[in-house]
Amino acid sequence: MRTILVLNPKGGSGKSTVATNIASYFATQGKKVTLADCDPQGSSQDWLAVRPESREPINCAVLKKDSLEIPKGTEILIMDTPAGVTDKRLSKFLSQAQTMIMPIVASPIDIRAAERFLDELFSLKGSINNKIKIATVANRVREDTLAAAKLEHYLNHIKLPNGKKLPFMTMLRASQNYIRAAENGLSIFELAPSKTYYDREQWEPLLRWLNSSRSLPNK
Ligand SMILES: Nc1ncnc2c1ncn2[C@@H]1O[C@H](COP(=O)(O)OP(=O)(O)OP(=O)(O)O)[C@@H](O)[C@H]1O
Ligand SMILES: [Mg+2]
Repeated sequence: MRTILVLNPKGGSGKSTVATNIASYFATQGKKVTLADCDPQGSSQDWLAVRPESREPINCAVLKKDSLEIPKGTEILIMDTPAGVTDKRLSKFLSQAQTMIMPIVASPIDIRAAERFLDELFSLKGSINNKIKIATVANRVREDTLAAAKLEHYLNHIKLPNGKKLPFMTMLRASQNYIRAAENGLSIFELAPSKTYYDREQWEPLLRWLNSSRSLPNK
């Protein structure tokens, strides 16, 4: 089973948005997808609850007493995590996945929080890269703003403990398409292509990475 973790301890960075869009993307590709809502806030669960029956099904898994019940036959498991995950809970989440995506919003507060979090992440025992592959995604970006340029610069210069660059996949713009899709239990991949052309293009590098062995830990 392929497990993709969406994590950033900073609240509102776009974890649930990224998690639900990835879940729907793989479901539309014919995969058996389970979306694990590990957040008591329940955003992913709410999204699944309003998802139309006519769309490709996505299973729901909820965290109960620290354990997840994953439906049999799941090919792709997407884990949406709560804000504030650190310490032991962080290690536990990391140990359950092969791939982690960290969405980050373009603001000085979010960048500073990301710096602190990455310091903690990289100080964990063992080489992160051998056990889990991590990539960043800039989210809710207002293009041509100073904040966007600063975030892009920051994300382009993060080094992993092994000295290699932490992959920075893409910038997702701030768009009502995400809000509209979320409202209806859908993803941008399920809205009219003519209206979401630009968003789909922005997702391409991330989807290519997820579909390649580059997002899987070294054997
Ligand atoms: N690219 C985007 N464009 C427009 N709105 C967005 C985008 N990404 C996220 N949002 C909106 O920003 C808000 C926060 O996003 P989201 O709930 O995905 O963050 P989160 O990291 O899951 O938050 P939490 O830490 O509370 O779980 C939501 O209202 C969501 O619809
Ligand atoms: Mg969330």
